Amino acid sequence: MQFCLDKHGEWVAVSASDDENKEEEGGENGGFFGRKNEQHVKKIAKTLADSTTWLDMLNDTKRNAMFQRAIENSMEKITSVKKRNAANGGVVLHVFDVGSGTGLLSLFAARAATGVTVRIYSCEMFLPMFLVGERVVRDNVREKKIPETSSIQMFHTRSEDVDAIAKHELDVLISELLDSALLGEGWLMVLKDVFSRELLRRDHFSIVPSSAKIWVQLLHAEESVLDVDVKKGRAALFGEAITSDGFSRLDVQCHFDSLEKRGRIRAISKHIQVFEIDFTNDKDWGRTEVVRCCCCSSSSSSSSSFRSLGLEINAVAMFWEIDLEGSGAFRLNTFPAQSYRRHWRQVIAPLECPIPLSASEEIPIQVEARIADDCLAFDVKVSGCGDKEKEKKKEMTMKKQKETLIETKQETCREKKIWLHIALANISEFWSSRAPLGDNVCGLNLTKANVLLCAKSVESNSPGYCYQSFKCDLLDELGHRYSTIEEEQTIFLWKSCELFVDDADEKKREEEEKEEEGEEDNKKKLRIDVDAGLEITANHVVFFFSDKSHADEWKTQPVQVARMDQELIGNKFRIIASNLDADEGECIRVLRK
Ligand SMILES: C[S@@+](CC[C@H](N)C(=O)[O-])C[C@H]1O[C@@H](n2cnc3c(N)ncnc32)[C@H](O)[C@@H]1O
Repeated sequence: MQFCLDKHGEWVAVSASDDENKEEEGGENGGFFGRKNEQHVKKIAKTLADSTTWLDMLNDTKRNAMFQRAIENSMEKITSVKKRNAANGGVVLHVFDVGSGTGLLSLFAARAATGVTVRIYSCEMFLPMFLVGERVVRDNVREKKIPETSSIQMFHTRSEDVDAIAKHELDVLISELLDSALLGEGWLMVLKDVFSRELLRRDHFSIVPSSAKIWVQLLHAEESVLDVDVKKGRAALFGEAITSDGFSRLDVQCHFDSLEKRGRIRAISKHIQVFEIDFTNDKDWGRTEVVRCCCCSSSSSSSSSFRSLGLEINAVAMFWEIDLEGSGAFRLNTFPAQSYRRHWRQVIAPLECPIPLSASEEIPIQVEARIADDCLAFDVKVSGCGDKEKEKKKEMTMKKQKETLIETKQETCREKKIWLHIALANISEFWSSRAPLGDNVCGLNLTKANVLLCAKSVESNSPGYCYQSFKCDLLDELGHRYSTIEEEQTIFLWKSCELFVDDADEKKREEEEKEEEGEEDNKKKLRIDVDAGLEITANHVVFFFSDKSHADEWKTQPVQVARMDQELIGNKFRIIASNLDADEGECIRVLRK
C-alpha cells in the first residue's frame, strides 16, 4: 500500500503492507516504505493530492449520489428482466466497473444486489489508485458492509486486458471516465472495446452513464484568454486548438463563471444543444451534426451594446449533461453556475474565423459538431452566414494563403535537411503503469497519457509495430529531458540522429535500397540498423524531427513518444520510419534483428 484517503478525505501515506512488523523489517533503509522514505512518500502523496482533482471528485456528493441511484435502478431493472426469464434457477448479475479508482462504484453495485448473486469485475490501471481501491474493498468485505451474495474481483490493468468476462455475459457496465471535455479520459475507447469483444448481453444490458447531450455557447473572449488559457494550454498538451479543417477542438477547461465575472469572456448566445450521444449504441458515434440558429436578436439588450463596442464572436464554450441510466431521472451536467467543481469545468476554444456582430438584427449561425477523430474530444465549427462575416472569412483566407506562400518561399530558400532524432527507451512507468510511483510521476495526468499511448494500433500482426505516436512533453514531465547523460541511460537505451529527407546523397542511397528490395517509390522511408552494444529491453520509441543534428536538440524539442505493442529484448534492431505524415497508418516500426 502506498497511500490512501483517511476518513476526513485527506491523503495519508501508509505502509507497503498491513503488517506493521513487516514495515519495521524494512528498517531505516529497507524498501521503498522504510522509515527513511516516509517523508518522501508523504511528499509524493501531497503533491498528487494537490495537483490532481481526485479529492474534489470523491467529495462531489451529488455525483456520488447520482451514480449510486442510477446503478441501483439499472440493476433493479435488469434483475427483474432476468428473474422473469429465469426458468427456476437463481439469477446471477455480471457487472463490469471500468476505472474503479477507490472502488466506489463497485461497492454501490455490490450493495445494490436484491436477492440475486452479483459478480463484479472491477479494473483500475493506475497502481496507487488500484491499491487504495483494493484496501477499501477489503475493509468493506471484512466489516460485512456488502452482502455475501456479492463478490468483487479486482484487476490492476486496463479494461482491454480484462479477459475474465465471457462473451455476452455482461449485464451492467458502470464507469465514470468523464472529464470536463466529456470524452478526454477515453470513455468511447472503452466502449468500443467492450462492443467489439461483444461482452454485453445480447438482449438486455445497461450502461451507466447511458447517454450525453452537448451544448455550446458563443462568446466574445479577450485575446489573452484565448492565447494564454486556451491556445497555450492546449499546445502544451496536444497541438493546435483548431484542426486543419477549421473545427475548434474543445478540450481546454476553464471556469466560465470566474472568467465571465472578471469580464474576460462575454456570452453572446444562449446555450445551443448541438449533439446527443447514445453510449449504448456503438453505431451512434461517428456523425457530424449541423445546427442552424440565429444569434443576438434585438431583444437582447446586451447584444446591442456589444455591437456598439465592436465585439465579435471569437470563441465557443462547451457544456455537457449525462443521463446516467436512460430514464432522465439521474442527470449531471457541467453548466456554469452549478456548484463549484474543480474536477468538471467548462471547456472553451477559439474560432478559426471570428464572426463580427453585424448591425442587422440577427446573425444566422451554423454550428457543425462532431466527435474528434481520436475520440478524445469534441470538435465544433461555427460559421456565420452574414455578408460581413463572409467578407471577413474571405479576408482571412487570403491572409492565410499569403502567409503560406511566404512560408513556402522561405522553406525553399532554407537548406532542406531534416534530421530524425530517435531513441529506443525503456519507460517502465507507462508500461501499463505497473511500476511503483516515483518522484517523477507527481503531477502527471497518467489517465490521459495512458489512453493516448494506446490510442491507435497499426493494422498489422508483425511484431514490433508501434502505436501511433503522440506529441507531448511527457519526458519533460517525467523529468528525463533535462537529465544528465548518465540518468538518461535509464530511459534512453539507444539514441541517434539520422538524416531523414532531402539530401542528395540520402536520396541516392534510398533509391539504391529501393531497387535492391523492389519497393514502390516512397521518399519518406528510412531504415536504421541499431546495434545497442548490449542486450536491452525496449518498450517505447521516442523521436522528433529537426533541421539540426545536434545532440542538444533533445533538450529543447517536444518529443513524440510511442509505445510498442510488445517489449523487444535484444541488442540488434532495425527501425523503419516511413509515411510520418499519414494520419493513420504506419509511423515507426521496430524489429528485432
Ligand atoms: C475519474 S476516475 C473514477 C474513479 C471511480 N470510478 C469513481 O467514480 O470514483 C477514472 C479512473 O479510471 C482509470 N482508468 C481510465 N481508463 C481506464 C481503463 N481503460 N482501464 C482501467 N482503468 C482506467 C483512471 O486511472 C482513473 O483512476
